[in-house]
Amino acid sequence: MIREMRAAIFDLDGVIVDTAKYHYLAWKRLAKEHGFDFTELDNERLKGVSRMQSLEILLEIGGLTVDEAARAEMAAQKNGWYIDYIRNMDASELLPGATEYLQRLRARGIKTALGSASKNAPLILDRLGIAALFDVIVDGNKVSKVKPDPEVFLRGAEELGIPPASCVVFEDAEAGIEAARRAGMGTVGIGSPEILRKADIVVPGLFELVLVSA
Ligand code: G6P
Ligand code: MG
Repeated sequence: MIREMRAAIFDLDGVIVDTAKYHYLAWKRLAKEHGFDFTELDNERLKGVSRMQSLEILLEIGGLTVDEAARAEMAAQKNGWYIDYIRNMDASELLPGATEYLQRLRARGIKTALGSASKNAPLILDRLGIAALFDVIVDGNKVSKVKPDPEVFLRGAEELGIPPASCVVFEDAEAGIEAARRAGMGTVGIGSPEILRKADIVVPGLFELVLVSA
């Protein structure tokens, strides 16, 4: 299907900024404290997934069963470590081409939104100084259903006032591509074609789109 892109909706972690590595380090540390290993391949299952759901997957990998209070404590511990990693972040951790591509779209009159599952998105945007590049920001504090549910992207489209069929989502996670497809939006996978099989197209990073849209 050929669609006119009137709005671009961006995932944050792994698309705009390289926080995926910090999520991974924090989860790996939690796994280690509980006596099991957590690999980069395991981590793919956590991308785009909410904090509590990520913990469920991690516990399944480690073969652990813990009660709700312990789960809340583990999630808080992981988030504490994660915040320690990201609190000192600056614009140097923006992924190549991210700022340029956002600026270019905006100069062409295309609306931009953030559609992230992260509750830490406001802190990250503040550290990077890029909040003004988005017309609308939808993050984990605003939505109740998580990817692959389409809520985060549908809410973005609604707040922008653009029909879903005219929106394109930029995502590095399988769950995010699935969410965008369910929302009826176009999809650009950021990363590896083996993992993002269901995306309309896959590019290694936004820098590639800056090069081809000169
Ligand atoms: C993004 C990341 C996930 C993360 C989720 C929640 O979608 O890709 O790995 O679990 O956000 O992030 P938070 O900062 O709220 O723990
Ligand atoms: Mg992501």
